Amino acid sequence: MDRHGPGLFKNCYSLASMTLQKNMTSLPKTYRNISDLVLFHIYTEKLFASHQIALMQNDPPGAISILSGLEQLIGWHIKDEEELLLPPYEQLVQPIPPGGAIEFFRREHQQILGFLRRFKAHQPFQQNEISIVHYFDMCTMYKELIEHHHAREHTFLYCLLDQKLSVGQKRQILLKFKTHQINAI
Ligand SMILES: [Fe+2]
Ligand SMILES: [Fe+2]
Repeated sequence: MDRHGPGLFKNCYSLASMTLQKNMTSLPKTYRNISDLVLFHIYTEKLFASHQIALMQNDPPGAISILSGLEQLIGWHIKDEEELLLPPYEQLVQPIPPGGAIEFFRREHQQILGFLRRFKAHQPFQQNEISIVHYFDMCTMYKELIEHHHAREHTFLYCLLDQKLSVGQKRQILLKFKTHQINAI
């Protein structure tokens, strides 16, 4: 990776901003609280919308570039959540509320990654109209899953960790988030 991050992301950001124009927000420079990661969620939701817009505008290279960037960003985010957030959550939040069980987060992460792999494998550009309809149906299912997952994380994982961790502990954890490091470059 060069000091500006992988070329993939330069393409990804520029295409996304071209597509969404004023509606596209950037990632924040700093995260103070775990709950600030909601901004990353919103960012990736908008990137996915920009992927769909690129598809509708018949821009295959743009759509593929955004999807690839998104897959990498979300992959890093999930890895960081599982390695940096779930262990202190499991240790400090006791008893864990029923809706915030560790296995729910892990299961939804696998489902999200599964969707992203399927999107990559089923790019509809060379296919018939039925395939394109099917692809957009998959997009809808993915967005429902994401909405559900992000709400669960905000309600349980992020907010409860914010209550349990000190300011210094939060800072140490958030500085290790890979997406944060890329953004800070
Ligand atoms: Fe997550
Ligand atoms: Fe998350």
